[in-house]
Amino acid sequence: MTVKTPVYLDNHSTTAVDPRVVEVMLPFFTQQFGNAGSSSHAYGWEAKDAVDRARQQVAQAIGAKAREVIFTSGATESNNLAVRGIADWLGKKGRHLVSVVSEHRATLDPLDRLTRRGYEVTLLPVHPHGHASTGQICLNQFADVIRDDTILVSVMLANNEIGVIQPLAQISEICRERDVILHCDATQAIGKMPVDVTELGIDLMSFSAHKLYGPKGVGALYVRGRSPQTRLVPLFDGGAQERGMRSGTLNVHGIVGFGAAVEFAIQELNPEMNRVSQLRDRLFQGIQAAIADCSLNGPSIKPGSDTTDTRLAGNLNMTFRLVEGESLMMSMGDLAVSSGSACTSANPEPSHVLRALGLPDDDVRASLRFGVGRFNTEEEIDFAIETLAGAVKRLRALSSMA
Ligand SMILES: Cc1ncc(COP(=O)(O)O)c(C=O)c1O
Repeated sequence: MTVKTPVYLDNHSTTAVDPRVVEVMLPFFTQQFGNAGSSSHAYGWEAKDAVDRARQQVAQAIGAKAREVIFTSGATESNNLAVRGIADWLGKKGRHLVSVVSEHRATLDPLDRLTRRGYEVTLLPVHPHGHASTGQICLNQFADVIRDDTILVSVMLANNEIGVIQPLAQISEICRERDVILHCDATQAIGKMPVDVTELGIDLMSFSAHKLYGPKGVGALYVRGRSPQTRLVPLFDGGAQERGMRSGTLNVHGIVGFGAAVEFAIQELNPEMNRVSQLRDRLFQGIQAAIADCSLNGPSIKPGSDTTDTRLAGNLNMTFRLVEGESLMMSMGDLAVSSGSACTSANPEPSHVLRALGLPDDDVRASLRFGVGRFNTEEEIDFAIETLAGAVKRLRALSSMA
């Protein structure tokens, strides 16, 4: 069987919109195109009903109430709204925030901006490469950095480069004891693993439709409604949509697609996690068998056994010694993979996540990230292994001649 190239193994960057989601969205471009804020006619009512339904679908997927879901333009906006919104709301109570070195730039950069406004940020390290809990934070260390003036903790659920899953339930226990608000960037986790905001004890949670087979440019921030109610200062002012937390005309077709995408992902979660982790394991084993001198980054993978509580089912990150990751990618036109986060591709710095694991820079530069997803097949995985093995061999032969 021939595979269609380039084979897409970059599902952490984005995913194809599921054709079923496209179907649901289509009428909202040309027929039900009303503004959800138009309360004087049927076009507006229809749009509002559709948004309400999507809000319900999204809320249900994470164990929240519909009114706790604020639609945004994506997880970057959600993270900014959470971090800056809490800092502005609670700036008089305290000015200390805690996060982790391996967070996405959409969290680290707003935190960095706050430091320029007089806030103090503590970034926790993660357990190094080779440690049994590589990539996770140390809970004792975490408890020790919380202070009386700490107003926010922000820790992602699943990492976008090495797939590591942080112990959010334990983190939230510590936050509760110390009366600190907990924000979680769950962008890579929703629809890929079970997520329940009540079970995890999270106050604010960010996510995005395009990571779960929905459209780009739409996301959400969960904002806890009670016990305790979480408040924040909005990023911008205007029509006071989304209960004043996010002004701006709602992206109705996007929101409808988001709702449908989340619902499909949750309905199919268990079989999809199994299928995707089997494909990922096949890729991992195939690479190990075909390519010498390569190693796994992030939590261990034990093919055949369930490791989905420590690592995202579709994630693989590996170092191919003696090759440049960028050259390797460039030499494989038939394979779409990445060397790190696509969302920071404006910044060619080597991965801060792999550096946080203590990998030497040469290894960081020789690493690739693979993201297996819903539409991948066994044939594509086998093609990827063969393509990669050929490319690594060629590049190593060239560098040994240099
Ligand atoms: C963990 C994480 N957070 C935030 C983002 C940003 O999401 P968006 O593209 O929706 O702004 C991404 C995208 O890669 C991500 O992986």
